[in-house]
Order: sequence, then C-alpha cells, then structure tokens
Amino acid sequence: MNPTIENMLQHVSVRDFIDQPITAEQKNSLLAAARHGALSEFVQAFSIIEITDKNLRDELSNITISSPHVKKADTFYVFVADLHRQATILRNHEMSLEPIKNMEPMIVSIIDTAIAAQNMAIAAESMGLGICYIGSLRNNINQVANLLHLPDFTIPLFGMTIGVPKFKNQLKPRMLKDNDVATNYYDESKFNDLSSYDRTVKDYYMNRKTHPTDTSWTDKNLAIFKEVHRPDIAEFLKKQGFSLK
Ligand SMILES: Cc1cc2nc3c(=O)[nH]c(=O)nc-3n(C[C@H](O)[C@H](O)[C@H](O)COP(=O)(O)O)c2cc1C
Repeated sequence: MNPTIENMLQHVSVRDFIDQPITAEQKNSLLAAARHGALSEFVQAFSIIEITDKNLRDELSNITISSPHVKKADTFYVFVADLHRQATILRNHEMSLEPIKNMEPMIVSIIDTAIAAQNMAIAAESMGLGICYIGSLRNNINQVANLLHLPDFTIPLFGMTIGVPKFKNQLKPRMLKDNDVATNYYDESKFNDLSSYDRTVKDYYMNRKTHPTDTSWTDKNLAIFKEVHRPDIAEFLKKQGFSLK
C-alpha cells in the first residue's frame, strides 16, 4: 500500500481543531488540488467560497444546528454546484437556457463539485489537517443562498471545515467488501446481507470513547429515513432555475 492510500484509509471526520491557522501556502495547495479533479465534459461546474467573515460563519453554523465546529475551524469553504457561468454564456449569445435547466447538467454540476471537494479533502489529510463535510447547510438552503448572494443555476451543496486536528474519532468501520462490491451484476443477496456488518457497527458504537451508543447500521438508517428530510430542496432547485425534468 502506498502513502496516498494509507492516508485515505485513515480518514475520519474531524470536528475539534486546535487554534492554529492553516498557512496561505497550504490553502493554495488545497484549492489547486480541488480545481484539478476530473471534470464532466470539462464544464468545471463548481465554485468554492471561503467564509472569512465571522458573523457570516456564525450564521452558517447556526443553520447547521449540529455542527458548531463551523464557527471554530480555521478554514471553512462552501462548495457550490455552479452552472451560472454556462447560463451567462448562453444569455450573452441570446441562446435558450433550456439545455441547462434539466436534470443532466444539474447532476454534472453536483458530480464536479463533489470530486473537487474530495480532492481537497485528500490533499488536506495528506498534510496532516482534518476535515469535515457540512451537508447540514442544506437545513436552510434558501437562507444559505441568500447569505452568499448565490445567483440562478447555483446550489450550495455542502461546506467543509478544515483545521489542525485536536481530537480524532476512531475509524468508522466501512461496509464489508461483499456488501458493496460485485462483479458484472448487482448482487442483491450479498449487498443486503448486513447482519455481520450490523454487528461490527454496533460493536464500534458501543465501544467508542466518545458518546457510546447501542445502535447498528440498520438502526441508524431506520432513524435517518423514518421521515422526509429537507422537503424544501426541490422547490429551492426550481427557484434557482432548474426544471427538474
Ligand atoms: C456530503 C457530506 C455531508 C456531511 N455533513 C456533515 C455535517 O453537516 N456535520 C457533520 O458533523 N458531519 C457531516 N458529514 C460527515 C459524516 O457524518 C461522516 O463522513 C460519516 O459519518 C462517516 O464518518 P467518518 O467521515 O468519520 O469516517 C458529512 C459527510 C458528507 C460526505
């Protein structure tokens, strides 16, 4: 195993940082790594907004509810799926916006943004920094869009806190290979045979040093998917100009 993969296998989300700034050089490297990911059709449909204003940070952190570390982390980026440039190009050429309104370019922009973010995450962890994605910004996606002055055809997908780790959780056990890797065809029986993995996850949660709980992976999913989350997302996307067709 090479050092890149070793680092990837050590990933844990970090939510507790020491009070030490990331250098300008480190930030440049992180942004360069993000910007050099693979890109769907080279459309580069993402933007990254660094939140340096303290009040704005606090407001965004309050939206997340669950992630107070947004206030404290040295660096906080918001990753925006962004087809506004393409909209501007089309408008400047007096062309129809219909082709960017449908689901396909929206998916493209979401994929490009996620790849950029994960490139940044791997780069940060390779420098000994800790990261945590912040999807809970979508608790109030309309307010986030307003606070960041986001134009049409943009989606604030998630944030990422970055800093020097103070505390790291124990590694969370991933699904067994049989549960999510198959050859040629989707393997319904293996992918859904989760009893062994449930025991592993239960063991992890019961024995971890912080907030031990008696829960399995199946239990967690039941809790997450027992009700519809963030029912306002589709309306927000329509407001941003997407047809959802
Ligand atoms: C897109 C995305 C959004 C996430 N949003 C949050 C969040 O809002 N707050 C948080 O504390 N963790 C968040 N996480 C971190 C996940 O909870 C974490 O990655 C997962 O539980 C696995 O744990 P690990 O990263 O420590 O291995 C998010 C992760 C991803 C990929």
